[in-house]
Amino acid sequence: MRTNFRKGVKRLAEMKYFIDPDIEHVLVFRSNTKFFDYEIYLNRHMLLMDKASCLPCLALSPPPGSIVLDACAAPGNKTICLANYLRNKGKLYAIELNRRRFKELNINLKTAGVTCAHTLNGDFLNVTLPFDEIDYILLDPSCSGSGIRNRNDDTEVIDEERLERLATLQIRMITYALTNFPNVKRLTYSTCSIHMQENEQVVETILDQFSDTFQLVDFLPKWPSRGQTERTQACLRASPEDTLTNGFFVACFERIIKLDTE
Ligand SMILES: C[S@@+](CC[C@H](N)C(=O)[O-])C[C@H]1O[C@@H](n2cnc3c(N)ncnc32)[C@H](O)[C@@H]1O
Repeated sequence: MRTNFRKGVKRLAEMKYFIDPDIEHVLVFRSNTKFFDYEIYLNRHMLLMDKASCLPCLALSPPPGSIVLDACAAPGNKTICLANYLRNKGKLYAIELNRRRFKELNINLKTAGVTCAHTLNGDFLNVTLPFDEIDYILLDPSCSGSGIRNRNDDTEVIDEERLERLATLQIRMITYALTNFPNVKRLTYSTCSIHMQENEQVVETILDQFSDTFQLVDFLPKWPSRGQTERTQACLRASPEDTLTNGFFVACFERIIKLDTE
């Protein structure tokens, strides 16, 4: 199946595509397709995204009518993807800290025809929200971006202090989300980083804190590249080598439903 996928991608002619076998909303084109020349892209009837970036939305798959929060939203690719799952029905809160990126987010949502979003320019850790109402949270925070470096550049110098700072904030954001939204059913955490400090280590810290209330969801069990520690096998990794995508990481946490047996 994976070998067939690789062969299929290699054989694709210009502007020919097939439906991705893992994610039904995704159409696969060959890598050097020049979308910028085509109306379908220019009028935003189609969203150009790396397949790996669609995985967090797939893991959440919020049904139409749900109340969803995209905590770090700009430029809005995943917000648009979530609105597609919602069929524009329900409510999609999209928060962005940076003012310039917030403007870009609003433009992108408008041109993509998203009507269920309510955008907020502020700090996710500080904005007022209807905390009780939110069913699903997508958390795609700032990261080192090491998964989307130039693929021919092997010279990245790893800045351990920066990774530690990023991981501290990433853990703070997940902790905040899992603590302050009493009815959230699922939360996805994702990075375009290849570093374990921002991925498996962050997830393990969260599992240590929340093992009574949240567990990892083993979604897409046939996905070939998994979290690199025993406790994070349910997480997905992606890379140019293994999945023909950017370097990416996704964890999906789900609330443990306790059955009252008394
Ligand atoms: C990786 S990008 C998000 C990409 C976006 N999810 C997408 O798919 O288009 C992270 C974003 O989070 C924003 N951000 C960082 N800290 C934030 C915070 N505390 N609250 C809200 N947004 C934040 C950054 O400005 C940046 O735009």
